[in-house]
Amino acid sequence: MNNLDNFLVENKIILNNYAKKYIEKLDIPVELKNSILYSLINEGKKIRPLMFLLMLKHYNIDYMKYLDIALSIELMHVYSLIHDDLPSMDNDDYRWGKLTNHNVFGEDVAILSGDAMQSLSFEIISTNKYIDDATKIKLIELLAKYSGVAGMISGQIYDIKQKNYNIDKSYLKKMHKLKTGNLLILPLLFSCYISKRTSDLELLTEFGKELGIAYQIKDDILDYYGEFDMIGKLPSDEGKITYLSFYGIKECESLLEFHTENAKKISLELQCNFLYNLSDKLLIRKK
Ligand code: IPE
Ligand code: IPE
Ligand code: MG
Ligand code: MG
Ligand code: MG
Repeated sequence: MNNLDNFLVENKIILNNYAKKYIEKLDIPVELKNSILYSLINEGKKIRPLMFLLMLKHYNIDYMKYLDIALSIELMHVYSLIHDDLPSMDNDDYRWGKLTNHNVFGEDVAILSGDAMQSLSFEIISTNKYIDDATKIKLIELLAKYSGVAGMISGQIYDIKQKNYNIDKSYLKKMHKLKTGNLLILPLLFSCYISKRTSDLELLTEFGKELGIAYQIKDDILDYYGEFDMIGKLPSDEGKITYLSFYGIKECESLLEFHTENAKKISLELQCNFLYNLSDKLLIRKK
């Protein structure tokens, strides 16, 4: 395994252990605790918190001090997926190779668990010991902005209400940027503010946008062509317009490469090998 793979494998284990301990010690109803643990400790990639830790390492920061912030990022992601799977949204029965949260705990608990994870995500940032108050406020602002009303939520609305709109290339690109790009940009910006390397903000945002479009194209392809044993979910976009149904597989693959190449070019400008190698890795991911 190379450096990047080692980093991802080792820190995913650390993150899962940290998350488990953090939730286990909360004094909350057992239904809520079990539901949050069930979805948070999963077979997923944890790519957003790992990108955050990776960038802190790139900036020579002791990233172990910020595992709570990594957890905050993952909580926001997992909440978005618990809600995304609900019958009133994508209506999916499987994720991470197991039944979706609402199929195990009921819709009522699934909705409330998502709500709880979202607010916990903010709470965790506000209580970190190492980050100064001004930076915390910035992180909280970014978390709200990228996940919220004009961020991921708007992307999800464009996705589920697409029948109300005229779907063209720019619509799909905007939808991908919002629903997926936002939560991928967030960890990069977090690392920038924490390590006071704000001169990289603009390039990292551009990198995240390109990676986000590529990431969702790959997700659409895997949702259709992937094996359940690998991706842990079943096809669910039937009847929906996705990059795959709009462009077809050939063009989709070349767009995936195009946006990955764009991301790689930006990572060169940032002189960040990690992001360069990660872009390649995500291009060929099987899950
Ligand atoms: C799934 O995200 C939803 C998208 C935004 C494409 P991930 O593929 O990153 O989810 P994990 O790895 O299963 O948590
Ligand atoms: C979900 O996109 C993106 C979110 C913001 C949650 P998808 O609906 O394609 O994600 P999957 O395929 O269910 O993981
Ligand atoms: Mg969806
Ligand atoms: Mg979905
Ligand atoms: Mg999908």
